Amino acid sequence: MDPNVGQVRIFDTTLRDGEQAPGCTMTLEEKLQVARQLARLNVDIIEAGFPAASPGDWAAVHEIAREVGSADGPVIAGLARANRDDIEKAWSAIQPAANKRIHTFMSTSDIHLEHQFRKTRAQCLEIIREMVGFARSLCADIEFSPMDAGRSDPAFLREAVAVAVAAGATTLNIPDTVGYLTPDEYGAMIADLYNNVPGIKECIISTHCHDDLGVAVANSLAGVRAGARQVECTINGIGERAGNASLEEVVMAIHTRGQFYGVRTQINTKEIARTSRLVSSFIGVPVPPNKAIVGANAFAHESGIHQDGVLKHRQTYEIMSAETVGLDGNELVLGKHSGRHALRTKLHALGVELDSEEEFQHIFERFKELCDRKKRVDDRDILALVTGELQHTPEIFKLDHVQYTSGSSMIPTATVRLIGPDGTMHVDSNQGAGPVDAIYAAINRIVQRPSELIEFSINAITEGLDAVAEVTVRIREQGEASETNGAEALTSSSSTETVLSGRRSAQQIFSGYGVHTDTIIAAAYAYIAALNKMLAAHEERIKAEAVAYAAGYTTD
Ligand code: KIV
Ligand code: ZN
Repeated sequence: MDPNVGQVRIFDTTLRDGEQAPGCTMTLEEKLQVARQLARLNVDIIEAGFPAASPGDWAAVHEIAREVGSADGPVIAGLARANRDDIEKAWSAIQPAANKRIHTFMSTSDIHLEHQFRKTRAQCLEIIREMVGFARSLCADIEFSPMDAGRSDPAFLREAVAVAVAAGATTLNIPDTVGYLTPDEYGAMIADLYNNVPGIKECIISTHCHDDLGVAVANSLAGVRAGARQVECTINGIGERAGNASLEEVVMAIHTRGQFYGVRTQINTKEIARTSRLVSSFIGVPVPPNKAIVGANAFAHESGIHQDGVLKHRQTYEIMSAETVGLDGNELVLGKHSGRHALRTKLHALGVELDSEEEFQHIFERFKELCDRKKRVDDRDILALVTGELQHTPEIFKLDHVQYTSGSSMIPTATVRLIGPDGTMHVDSNQGAGPVDAIYAAINRIVQRPSELIEFSINAITEGLDAVAEVTVRIREQGEASETNGAEALTSSSSTETVLSGRRSAQQIFSGYGVHTDTIIAAAYAYIAALNKMLAAHEERIKAEAVAYAAGYTTD
């Protein structure tokens, strides 16, 4: 395969396939931060979103293209169904990027064509020919995906891919949309296309695997072995249902077993841990401790025999080092006596960019508070602190003070003081089943916006009794009709025009993240962050629509 023999391109779809999963919604500012971090990670392509889904999605893709799509930066891709309006919207949204790609798709499996699109195979080929050709008339870099390729008739899939190649597609992405295939089958499908589709050797073949059977990464790697030179994946493997192939696992498999795969990626692996943490904190989905590469236990050696081996010679039980993925934070670097200069130097070394001196000052104050409570402050603590503090959630309500009493024979009681949107102080108290419950009830009495707590998780950032706790909460807004989510729209609609539409009316779930050495206080910060996100969401929708319309977004 021509110019890409040894290089596998990493196409990150965290902001599209990842973000479209229910409850993984991010704000515009969060998407921008993730996109900036993906650029630092050095991914080849960022799929920034699905512009036709809503004016808000269009605006997010447009902003990412403007901010992150520099000439030496990643290609910015926008997703489009195979119809003119979607393709035009994707094209207008990615305009500001120096390197742009339109990614268009059309199902090729009989089950989708018959029951969802109500099209014949012949009509399907015609749509592909016309719409890939139309996209190519706008943009030189065109990706086409035959959706549900994994369950398509192999002969028809070859035909469909050949039509797309002839119409001008430059990347052919082969999705196992429902995560049905085994690695052997997926590899064989890629090899079949690679060997039998005229002209495909001048194009890039890409993998796109879902994890319904837990083999998305294995399938992607089998695709690489069979000739694919682009892998579509997401940070922490987030995505529809069981998710997509996880970027960190694919990249580290290729990094660690480069000789076996005979390829490389251009990913800056040292940015992996930070990217994982950023995405996890924004969407409120903690990384499981046993998750490969980025889980808290991924590099922890617990058993005596393993510890003994590692102390004698690291490679006895380690196939890659924690440092390679940016997890080298065990060293004591900062403490009580460290000043501004030391913190600035450390933040710089960790690749943390702050927007203003005011932001630095805020981080410095929190850092000093942390040093008063914790003797050993390492890189992991600092990254957690920065992630917690710089969530860019508008502080509609600011937690000013929290106090609680609890014990084995007392009723948990909490008092909170919040500063409201107009600067007024609100104080309230409540009792609860536990201290967190009491705090949340007191906060609810002030904020007065009903929500349901649907997830609460605590994690210790580092070892030790004085470890910093990170709390992640997810809340669901109450009192609004629950609307169709993206997955339902995808499977229930009956024409190309309606597939995937309505995803922006997904059930509204908001996450919040808080860090503190006191777990209960971390929980209070996390809850306020989630509530602020919920309160800001409505305003943001209106603002994003205004930005989109002002920048050229149109409706039919
Ligand atoms: O899984 C899938 O088929 C997709 C396509 C839109 C590429 O996400
Ligand atoms: Zn997908």
